[in-house]
Amino acid sequence: MMKNIAVFASGFGSNFEAIIEAANNGTLHANIALLVVDKPACYAVERAHNHNIPVFAFNPKDYDSKEAYEKEIVKQLQAYQIDLVALAGYMRLVGSVLLENYAHRIINIHPALLPSFPGTHSIEKAYNHGVKVFGITIHYVDAGMDTGPIIDQESFKKKEGESVEEVETRIHQLEHQLYPKVLERILNH
Ligand code: GRF
Repeated sequence: MMKNIAVFASGFGSNFEAIIEAANNGTLHANIALLVVDKPACYAVERAHNHNIPVFAFNPKDYDSKEAYEKEIVKQLQAYQIDLVALAGYMRLVGSVLLENYAHRIINIHPALLPSFPGTHSIEKAYNHGVKVFGITIHYVDAGMDTGPIIDQESFKKKEGESVEEVETRIHQLEHQLYPKVLERILNH
């Protein structure tokens, strides 16, 4: 039986697209069953529509609390029989309702070598810090900000004179390669 993945995003959705692509070309044996977004107008939603993937789009302001919207998310995840949640640019801390219902079944991708540079603007922060080795991390999600147990990392050395934009491009390329591979490993090995 193919496992069902839900991807959570808030923006551009290039990792979401890479995961869909891997499922379509057979390198990832899973159904990309649902996209969850907290920004109904984000580009990831358009990608889901292009691939006929169902979307649950919510606006956190329409709910009294994180618990309230996460209860709704859990209902959706149950309705689609989701086995694994893959955060991909979802710009919110995951709360207790999701963590308790999907313990050890929520993972995240982060564009830095954790535990260095957690939070937002990690690539710029690392670049401005002058780091020589850049990388990405895929980890289980816990209640902290990018703090859960590390599953895998990839890295590369900055080239002499490489701009922040060039580094960013390489980071995203690495993400798009590694995320589907890790999903396949977690679900099917
Ligand atoms: C990625 O760099 C990911 O590591 C971070 O947010 C970015 C999302 O990009 N958590 P995209 O929406 O997948 O294009």
